[in-house]
Amino acid sequence: MKFLLFLALSIGLVPAPVKHTPEREHTSFKKAVAQLEPWQQEEAYRITFDGKHVKIEALTPQGRFRAQKTLEQLELLGEKPVGTIFDYPRLRHRGLMIDESRSFKGLAFLKKQIDAMALLKLNVLHLHLDDSAGWRIESESYPDLTRETAFRKGRTYHEWEAGKYQFTTADDPDGYGGYYTKAQLKELVAYAAERFITVIPEIEMPGHSMEVGYAYPQVLCEHPNGRLHMGAWDLCPGSEGTFRLLEAVLKEVMDIFPSPLIHIGGDEATMKTWSQCVNCRKRMEQEGFTDIKELQGYLVRRIEAFVRSHGRRIIGWDEILETGVPEGAVVQSWRGVEGGRKASALGYDYIMSPNSHCYYNYYQDLIRKEPKAVGELVSLRFTYGYEPLGEGMDPAHLLGVQANLWTELIPTPEHAEYMLYPRLFALAETAWTPAALKEYKGFRKRARALLDVFQSLGYQTFDMDSESDLARSGLQRFPPEGTPIPIDD
Ligand code: ACM
Ligand code: ZN
Repeated sequence: MKFLLFLALSIGLVPAPVKHTPEREHTSFKKAVAQLEPWQQEEAYRITFDGKHVKIEALTPQGRFRAQKTLEQLELLGEKPVGTIFDYPRLRHRGLMIDESRSFKGLAFLKKQIDAMALLKLNVLHLHLDDSAGWRIESESYPDLTRETAFRKGRTYHEWEAGKYQFTTADDPDGYGGYYTKAQLKELVAYAAERFITVIPEIEMPGHSMEVGYAYPQVLCEHPNGRLHMGAWDLCPGSEGTFRLLEAVLKEVMDIFPSPLIHIGGDEATMKTWSQCVNCRKRMEQEGFTDIKELQGYLVRRIEAFVRSHGRRIIGWDEILETGVPEGAVVQSWRGVEGGRKASALGYDYIMSPNSHCYYNYYQDLIRKEPKAVGELVSLRFTYGYEPLGEGMDPAHLLGVQANLWTELIPTPEHAEYMLYPRLFALAETAWTPAALKEYKGFRKRARALLDVFQSLGYQTFDMDSESDLARSGLQRFPPEGTPIPIDD
């Protein structure tokens, strides 16, 4: 392991200073980083504290920025170290996804989370910009996307669902929603870039797209009797109208976001309307497909070629593995770790965000004490214990890890922060720190101290002091009543 050669004692959350040693003093910084990967060299830094002065060394402005954030963290925590910190990241993609469709939180919220990410040395904000519950990005080529679906009846996702998925317009005083203008998104991209954070936009396809069909029925499947499948979840991969819309929108998206990766979703297409659709059937005949699923592969390949022709790469949720992934695509594992494992075996670059460990819309403590959430327990300790490089997986293709915050049950910015902190501290440490140097007890102490800092900075957080024994134990599943729970932190 290359990085251990350098005695990398940094920790993602708070780098632990190490004593000044003659070797470290006499090794030039350039020499000290020479054996790191080029992308690691860009982020590496060394800080020397001699009690009076602080010296920062870095090869790039990015490295200098990471060092400044370490100093800021130490200052906020009231720590006055002496010695040397030599620090660089383990993984190049250290991400957070925020779902802006199910609840719309706005520019100030996103900037505030970018500030937190910078402090934690995270470097990718993935924005889920559209889903059935609302389209959240201005489009000049297809303006009805926002005009018709950025506002809905129903403050929360579930109220909207219970009211049978009704949209409304901006002038409805009872409507809920909003969208980002291009100017706002450019401002956000610049704000993130100043903090060495890339914003990856996601335009979801072909599933999770009810709102697109509502605004533009030409993307919907057509029944042999001529009727369109109104209210369908999936876009029609047989219709050229679908590709015209997606390509026009993606072009606008790429004009706003310089990110080398463009997320195209790809998850949970039901494919229900495709077998009854004249255009889908025609497409299958033309292409010689025998399985309806191949239509998803067709859509992904066409969109990938379009995105590539604009000098970018696609990233998709792990379902894209099921229908033949185009070369150069990045796979994001979310249905557990299997997608990552398979992508690795096939030689694709992959990002790990398994729902088992990295979904921060899941419960962080007992159901009875928490606001309604999803799934199983993803406690601080459990998520901290996540190791993204599973046995047999190729480290060369592991781009990184990401936490995802889906917001069907998270209607407000405050609630979103409550779900993120302190769990995002754990993700940051997993992404930054070599696995061999992670250690939960020390992390928990530092996380507890940093949580106070976050509260003083105005973030809503989970209360670590009231954490149940079960959550503290790091168990994932609820054990039978009466089972003794070991606590050793
Ligand atoms: C997902 O959680 N459906 C990617
Ligand atoms: Zn169709």
